[in-house]
Amino acid sequence: MAEKNKNDETLSDMNYVSQDVRILAIETSCDETAAAVVKNGREILSDVIYTQIALHTCYGGVVPEIASRKHIEKINQVIEEALEQAKITLQDITAIAVTYGPGLVGALLVGVSAAKAISFATGIPLVGVHHISGHISANYIEYKELKPPFVCLVASGGHSHLVIVKDYGTYEMIGRTRDDAAGEAFDKVARAIGLGYPGGPKIDKISKEGNPEAISFPRAKVAENEYDFSFSGLKSAVLNYLNSCQMKGISYCQADVAASFQKAVVDVLVEHSLHAVKEFGYDKFAIAGGVASNSYLRNAFEEECAKKNIRFFHPSSRLCTDNAAMIGAAGYYEYIKGVRHGYDLNAVPNLLL
Ligand code: KG4
Ligand code: ZN
Repeated sequence: MAEKNKNDETLSDMNYVSQDVRILAIETSCDETAAAVVKNGREILSDVIYTQIALHTCYGGVVPEIASRKHIEKINQVIEEALEQAKITLQDITAIAVTYGPGLVGALLVGVSAAKAISFATGIPLVGVHHISGHISANYIEYKELKPPFVCLVASGGHSHLVIVKDYGTYEMIGRTRDDAAGEAFDKVARAIGLGYPGGPKIDKISKEGNPEAISFPRAKVAENEYDFSFSGLKSAVLNYLNSCQMKGISYCQADVAASFQKAVVDVLVEHSLHAVKEFGYDKFAIAGGVASNSYLRNAFEEECAKKNIRFFHPSSRLCTDNAAMIGAAGYYEYIKGVRHGYDLNAVPNLLL
């Protein structure tokens, strides 16, 4: 279990670089081929995202093999565009940061190989970045004044983590999902009620027309750790509700199911997160990951944080879902800490934070 807020000297207190550091960042962990140039960890000079969503929609989810092939097709073009938009050449790049895990192994390998090739050809240092560290670091781009320590909820398609950000790139995980990640639950429920892929944004939109109190879905607690999450029971409850409607021959209201499900997820995320902020003695809280762009979730956190005098940070929607700028921000802090990777850097699909 984490120690209470102990603020020794951290990277955030030090004054480390006098020269501008420009990071070329590459992200290919799932279904976005992305490259960006980020200055000093906080300023986006360019941010190019080629999204494959349309390609995977007809399959109802990401097909790993298709994702890898499309990354290969697009990666060089996306990197070139990122340099062009930043109006610089590789000569002006200080380091290359690349996501090396977690994610789909074939997809990760494309970005890692591209980054290693550029580094090998030019001698520019290579820095491997953890995808979740990238999501958290999106907050540094959005809020120039934000410094650790703070508590962060990372809710994406593959992860629901409650993390204490002790310093830049230094994390302590205090809660995690026991089964489905929050985004995964959004995607599965969206599919079950016929909204299709990607589920999160579609549930977000249709919920605005629904009644969040219409159906009472369960809010699961995990006995062993009050900060852990479990969403598979909620997902089953939604499926049971749909089945029972079908068996009784009655139609259900898509918007009411979506809104009630969304409220059940958000209630749990808010309760666990803000309980952790209070218990561990912090006054700053951030959200990150694709689910962090959910409008109902943002409003709920906004309201609850205001009531509890907690400063609330949330990246813009574009920075919540997968992008390379966030990898540039996380890569900057790794770079100034002296982290360098060799040409043996490999994709690690289940990389731990
Ligand atoms: O962080 P992300 O882009 O990729 C991963 O690292 O997984 O997150 C994607 C997840 C998907 O499950 C998607 O449905 C969910 O984020 N998502 C949302 C919203 N936008 C994306 N979930 C709820 N509401 C949204 N507006
Ligand atoms: Zn992600």
